[in-house]
Amino acid sequence: MCGIVAYIGPREAYPILMKGLRRLEYRGYDSAGLCLLNSDLKVFKCKGKVSDLEDHVKDSDISGNIGMAHTRWATHGEPNQINAHPHFSQNKSLAIIHNGIIENYAALRSELMNRGYAFTSDTDTEVLIHLIEDIKINEKVSLQEAVRIALNQVIGAYAIVVISKSSPDKIIAARKGSPLVVGIGKNEFFVASDATPIIEYTDNVVFLNDEEIAIIRRNDELKILTVKNQEKTPYIQKLELSLSAIEKGGYDHFMLKEIFEQPRSIHDSMRGRLHLEQGLVTLGGIRDYEQKLLNAKRIIITACGTSWHAGLVGEYLIEDLARIPVEVEYSSEFRYRNPIITEEDVVIAISQSGETADTLAAIELAKGKGATVLGICNVVGSSIARATHAGVFTHAGPEIGVASTKAFTAQVAVLTLLALLLAQKKGTLPTSHFRRLLVELSTIPDKVEQTLKLNDKVKEIADIYMNATNALYLGRGYNFPVALEGALKLKEISYIHAEGYPAAEMKHGPIALIDEQMPVCVIATRRGTYEKVISNIQEVKARKGKIIAIINEGDETVKNLADHSIEIPETEEILVPLIATIPLQLLSYHIAVMRNCNVDQPRNLAKSVTVE
Ligand code: F6R
Repeated sequence: MCGIVAYIGPREAYPILMKGLRRLEYRGYDSAGLCLLNSDLKVFKCKGKVSDLEDHVKDSDISGNIGMAHTRWATHGEPNQINAHPHFSQNKSLAIIHNGIIENYAALRSELMNRGYAFTSDTDTEVLIHLIEDIKINEKVSLQEAVRIALNQVIGAYAIVVISKSSPDKIIAARKGSPLVVGIGKNEFFVASDATPIIEYTDNVVFLNDEEIAIIRRNDELKILTVKNQEKTPYIQKLELSLSAIEKGGYDHFMLKEIFEQPRSIHDSMRGRLHLEQGLVTLGGIRDYEQKLLNAKRIIITACGTSWHAGLVGEYLIEDLARIPVEVEYSSEFRYRNPIITEEDVVIAISQSGETADTLAAIELAKGKGATVLGICNVVGSSIARATHAGVFTHAGPEIGVASTKAFTAQVAVLTLLALLLAQKKGTLPTSHFRRLLVELSTIPDKVEQTLKLNDKVKEIADIYMNATNALYLGRGYNFPVALEGALKLKEISYIHAEGYPAAEMKHGPIALIDEQMPVCVIATRRGTYEKVISNIQEVKARKGKIIAIINEGDETVKNLADHSIEIPETEEILVPLIATIPLQLLSYHIAVMRNCNVDQPRNLAKSVTVE
């Protein structure tokens, strides 16, 4: 949440900052602001999006080759111009941008008020910049030392950049719990919440660790200190990210582009891991932990949102194929409910962004209790990738649309590989069955490609239901998490209320909602509980509900019952989520577009949820 970008070097900072903000806008978009230093510290900010900020500065002097910018997702204080970042210190000699939450801000604020500081905003961030100014003046220390001392008094999470009017050749950046990357160019530096604003200028980056402060000086080497005042050698990494991967590539929205990327992203997530000829699966990232997994009393999967849905598919897969007990926990509940975790448990944290605050906290909790913690993560260098003992990356590529699509199928692909690997090592599947699954898994990218050809058909259905006020999604077995995911996609981008349910649970309550206005999306693929799902469809029909059925090609039985059907290629039951999810993503996308919703930036949401 909140995007940060900063620049120091020979070029004009403004275009770099604005381009960077646009790349980071997926992280928050309720207000935006920037600060440029050119003999004076100039701050411009406004409510709304980056484009509103552009209009706002149109007639202003925006020159300067040091600056920073911010796009906000409000936590403390409503989204308005006053609460937008950057924030000035009292004497306006310092400015700050911040992503995170200062938890003890109230106590710090009243101390500072007693010392005569006046606050103009409702934010926790303003407290921090006043505190830095107070320390700098009273303790007569350098900017970096004042930041360091202040950060020692702060409880909470932060990624910050501070600029001082009296130090036009210096940027101070620091992080704890919220991500921050420093890009190192030729005589220039970039700072950002992720690498996307940096990639077109340099591929040399340093991912700051928690409690590290970067002291970035013009024409000097990057220096890193910890908040405890230890010097660290910057670990410079090469970015493996292409510019085209973070652009729309001709699609109207990132979400649509990302839906259409799934044949490739699923393939990439399996490449080098699924070995058809040898008949085996390898997951290099967790090789040293295979035995631990095989001996685990229990696997606990922890995640949030869509990643939690992938975790649920993981539970079905691992229990079904490898016969190891699995529990799936919402990270936000897990971390606070005093769970029983032992050294014999293996915890798997799933996260696209690798920055979700609740999942990070769940990881720390599990590590504290001695459990082995593995990650399934999409972003290399992210906090979760680094906090876990080991892990497997989903190679979905950057996901920029706020609604998660290709990350979900990549997570499910990796979990399928994991379940197969464990099954093979445990001998819980006959070899012929194992091989059959492996062959079928290798065909999934093609079947997803075929499914994407249904786009026009899905669009026609979207047109019929675009004005619905409610929707129900039903599935059983492996298709239950698909129903949950379908409903989440619809509600988050189209603002239509939608619920996902195990189909058989419908008669225990939700059936009361069904009338002729209610679209009911049923995933009714052959195998598993197919016959029983047909009965559930009959129950909906008897109450005049409208059935949109996801069925296998040529299934005349359900086709005759349903109001609309979407025919997807047949596959093994355990692999259906990888295919059945696709038309549901498309359905939500088209409905949202038809309702004029901002598909890539739905209201109130942010891509990377770095606050709990
Ligand atoms: C839904 C969505 C969210 C995320 C959730 C977890 O489309 O994107 O529900 O899945 O915020 O995020 P990650 O996977 O980054 O931990």
